[in-house]
Formats: sequence, C-alpha cells, structure tokens
Amino acid sequence: MNKINYGLIGAGRMGSFHGNTVVHQLTNANLVAIADPFKENADKLGKELGVSNTYADPEELLNNPDVDAVIIATPAKTHSELVIKAAQSKKHIFCEKPMAVTLEEADKAIEEVEKNGVKLQLGFNRRFVKSYKSGRDEVIQNNIGTPQLLRSLTRDPIIPNPEKIPEWTIFKETLIHDFDVLNYMNPNAKAIEVYTSADALIRPDLKDKGLLDTAVVTIKYNNNAIATAEANFQALYGYDVRTEVFGSEGMVTMGDVSSSDMKKYTNKGIAIDTTKQDTELLHDAYVAELNDFVNCIVYDQQPRSTGIDAKNALVIALASIESYKQNKPIKLSEIN
Ligand SMILES: NC(=O)c1ccc[n+]([C@@H]2O[C@H](COP(=O)([O-])OP(=O)(O)OC[C@H]3O[C@@H](n4cnc5c(N)ncnc54)[C@H](O)[C@@H]3O)[C@@H](O)[C@H]2O)c1
Repeated sequence: MNKINYGLIGAGRMGSFHGNTVVHQLTNANLVAIADPFKENADKLGKELGVSNTYADPEELLNNPDVDAVIIATPAKTHSELVIKAAQSKKHIFCEKPMAVTLEEADKAIEEVEKNGVKLQLGFNRRFVKSYKSGRDEVIQNNIGTPQLLRSLTRDPIIPNPEKIPEWTIFKETLIHDFDVLNYMNPNAKAIEVYTSADALIRPDLKDKGLLDTAVVTIKYNNNAIATAEANFQALYGYDVRTEVFGSEGMVTMGDVSSSDMKKYTNKGIAIDTTKQDTELLHDAYVAELNDFVNCIVYDQQPRSTGIDAKNALVIALASIESYKQNKPIKLSEIN
C-alpha cells in the first residue's frame, strides 16, 4: 500500500499529539514537515520526531511537493484560511474542529475543497470511537426504534488558563463535538431549533470578560427528536464524554468515564480509574481518525466526517450563541 506523507501545521498540544501518532502509531503514513509561526515549537517537535523540514510559515510547508496531506492543529480562527490555502495547493486536509468560525468561511472552505478535488476530514474524534460507530449502526438498523431523546456531554477535567479562553469557546470548540455527535446519531434528521442556558459557574469572576464554562443546549430535530448537549470545564473526577440515544424501542449508550474496566474493591468501597486528558480517554479514536483518513486518500473513499458535517455542527453552535445572547429559542433557519 502507498504511504501518505503528512505535513503538520501547528505544533502545540494537539499538533504534537497528532505528530507523535503519525510517527509512532501509523504504518501507512510518514511525517515529513512541520510548520508553526513559533518556529521553536516546530523545531522542538521536529527534533523529537526526526523531521528536519520545519518552517515558520505554513505556506512554505504547502509549497513542499513531498507533502501529500496536511494536519491542521492551529487555533480555531486560523482553520478556514489554512483549509482554503491547503486545498488550493492540492493537499488533502485533516482539520481539527471547528473547520471555520463563520458560515461564510465554512462555505468558502467547502467550495475550495470541492473545486480542487482534495479530501477533507474533520477531527470529530467521537465518530471514530468503536462504541459510537456500533451505537449508530443500531440506530440505522432501527433496533431502538425512532429516536426520541438524545444527549451528549463533554466535561473537561480542568481549565488550564481560563483568562485566555476565547469568547464562545464552549460552543465553538467544546460543544461542537456534541453537536456533531447528536447529528451523527440522528441520521437523516436535521436540527431546526436550539435553546441555550449557560453560565460561568467555575469562574464567575470571568463572566464579564466573556467566559462561559457551563452550558446546556436543547436542540429540536425535524424528526421530532429532542436532544441536549451539555458541557462543563471542570469535572474534578476526570475527562468525561458520554452519549445516549433513547428511541421508541430501546436505547443505546456510549462512552464511559472509566479508563479501564478494572474496579478496585476495598474497605473504602469501589474505585475506578479515570483520565485527566482527552488524548488518554479517546486515544484510540485519535489514532483511528488519522489512520482512516490515509485510507480515504489511498482508496478514494469519503471521509467519515466531512466539511458539510462541520458546517452542520457550526450552525448549531452559532444558533446556540444567539440563543444565549437573546435568551430565547432560535430557529436554525434564522442563522443559515
Ligand atoms: N479533537 C479534539 O478533541 C481536540 C482537543 C484539543 C484541541 N483541539 C483543537 O486543536 C486545535 C489546536 O488546539 P491546541 O490545544 O493544540 O492549541 P495550542 O495553542 O496548544 O497549539 C496551537 C499551535 O498553533 C500554532 N499556530 C498559531 N497560529 C498558527 C498559524 N497561523 N499557522 C500555524 N501554526 C499556528 C501556535 O504557535 C501553537 O503552537 C484547536 O482548534 C482545538 O480546538 C481538538
């Protein structure tokens, strides 16, 4: 099988993890270049992973003919421009979520990807968790009947630098996973209306500066299903990602806060281990998504999470923000 040469754009926390994955976990890909405007980030990671092509300017990476596909792991606001430039450079694109922060940017990114005939996959890692795929198959095979209630939650263990979190992050970067999962788990249905309750309960002092650290969004779908997406930035017990689909004939549940099925029984009671990092809890999904993307390129297959999926999740995120601002339900047709 052909190997794909990845170039990495953004050598921060997520980029370093993806770079390590390509080098140490994938048998069908190489890492051949790294770009980061903080060149020392690119150089440090390059040294660690044995990659000598490092650049401060991502455009130089895009001009490198050895790069077949890029991994974009930069801050959210830079994604759409990089997707567009990568597509114009005829590179296949794996982009961390969100693909864009406005609908205009999302449309332009999708258009350029189509025009240039490259593949685009979004970092919606839950689609690559085995249980989520099985759960969705059960829904598709009608084994739990018609979806009536869905819920999805993301609870991060800590907020490292709450002062530095850009406004609306909880919707555009955290809950965007849940919005996508709810769409994924309710196939063929469209979200039509949202209502948001949100607050700064962990750091109320930062609410005036735009921080929201706790949120619940209710979403109505056109198949009458009602969904909730919830997030919180400080689950002291560990990283927590769970999803449930309740239908007319039964229910599927996915996700588990425990990091293994080991339970410790002592005179203190029963204890389980949890993780403090998304990259630990969802480790296998992060590897699977990059591996799968290589297969999509090599075998010319449609990625499991596309630009359209990214736009559909973004519309819900933008409507959730509007609902919070106006404190009333918002129809997605008002946004899109
Ligand atoms: N899928 C997931 O579960 C998941 C988890 C965490 C983060 N993310 C996403 O990954 C992205 C990166 O997050 P992070 O935590 O690694 O951030 P980070 O701040 O640790 O790293 C970002 C890196 O990008 C670099 N950078 C900034 N602008 C750039 C540009 N124009 N071109 C190239 N590099 C640039 C920065 O110097 C930094 O090294 C975000 O979009 C975030 O939402 C996804």
